[in-house]
Amino acid sequence: VSLQPYNTFGLDTPARYFTAFERLDQLQEALQWPAAQGLPTLVLGGGSNILLTKAFDGLVLKNELKGISVVKEDDEFVYIKAGAGEQWHGFVLHSIAQGLGGLENLSLIPGNVGASPMQNIGAYGVEIKDVFDSLEAWHLQDKTVVTFHHADCAFGYRESVFKQAYKGQFVILSVTFKLRKHPQFHTSYGAINTELEQMGVTELSVQAISQAVINIRSSKLPDPKKIGNAGSFFKNPTVSEMHYKVLKGSFPEVVAYPAGQNAYKLAAGWLIEQCGWKGYREGDAGVHEKQALVLVNYGKASGQDIYRLSTKILQSVQLRFGVLLEREVNII
Ligand code: FAD
Ligand code: EPU
Repeated sequence: VSLQPYNTFGLDTPARYFTAFERLDQLQEALQWPAAQGLPTLVLGGGSNILLTKAFDGLVLKNELKGISVVKEDDEFVYIKAGAGEQWHGFVLHSIAQGLGGLENLSLIPGNVGASPMQNIGAYGVEIKDVFDSLEAWHLQDKTVVTFHHADCAFGYRESVFKQAYKGQFVILSVTFKLRKHPQFHTSYGAINTELEQMGVTELSVQAISQAVINIRSSKLPDPKKIGNAGSFFKNPTVSEMHYKVLKGSFPEVVAYPAGQNAYKLAAGWLIEQCGWKGYREGDAGVHEKQALVLVNYGKASGQDIYRLSTKILQSVQLRFGVLLEREVNII
């Protein structure tokens, strides 16, 4: 089976076996399948955060568990549970239509609900850890459903226990979010305020913030339907305050934000752009012309082509700035 329709890089990479499941019993049945015994498994949502670098000699399980329901509510919050296979942005729009606050800054992120806890998706000053209540996941080894609460997930910047210690051990089935009946607005991210002003918004609302985020994202992030990509390819690196000061001495324009005690987060897009990569193209692999943190496939690049380009970028940033970038995208 070609995985081309199932990854937003548009890579034409084969998998030995492929199946989609809409119910838990279908997942259980697929895992029982004798031919697939002992083979590796890969759970897929929207395929918007993976780079396939070689044929997958195992079973790909496409998660299509659907459903959105209110589990409980109190004076402040409504707890909404969404199936892992629900499209993320559709779920965001659904919650906004219900007048609930919390997800508006996370509008237009590709992919599905089930992958959102994997890397604790974030944008414009909000991460899902800010609205996360719990999730249910299937333990592949024990064959049981396990509930994870907030503290169990070890959420960090583009990190969780599912990307680290429990990598490949669970299939996330549903996620429950805690959304506000009386929204609290997060507009500290500079670009949002500028956009809201340009839109002529005088009274804040979840709708207005969602629209502002959609406008900003559409203006600089490539649409995977037109140009293959997986969003930011690298994480924004964190350096010590001392390292930051040294960098600032040599490169007064360096873009950075304070990140906890004695630490700064650097804009990787700036570092990469300074090394001359923005808009670079090598065959069909390239660096997006409007956002240097996004690697793109113009058509026929292979996963290896993109991976090789990412290595060159990594090396040049390290040589010039002494900063080691880390890939955000899951390399398969
Ligand atoms: P997939 O790519 O299908 O899977 C990602 C990883 O999670 C894989 O390792 C997969 O095996 C695993 N996985 C998926 N579903 C499950 C499940 N149910 N159970 C267990 N494991 C699972 N991310 C951000 O955080 N912020 C952004 O602003 C952002 N912007 C983006 C913009 C663009 C244009 C693109 C293409 C991507 C962007 N991303 C962003 C990255 C991506 O959209 C998110 O990481 C998203 O959550 C991935 O969802 P997915 O369903 O496509 O995951
Ligand atoms: N910049 C440049 N050149 C570039 C790109 C960026 O100089 O080519 C500098 C600019 O100064 C800009 C700053 O970097 O102001 C920050 O850029 P941007 O606002 O585009 O955000 P980012 O740091 O590049 C991060 C996330 C995105 C998320 C946005 C908005 C990471 C790795 N990426 O990007 O997430 O949407 O902030 O919050 O943290 C993703 O994870 O896939 C993703 C797209």
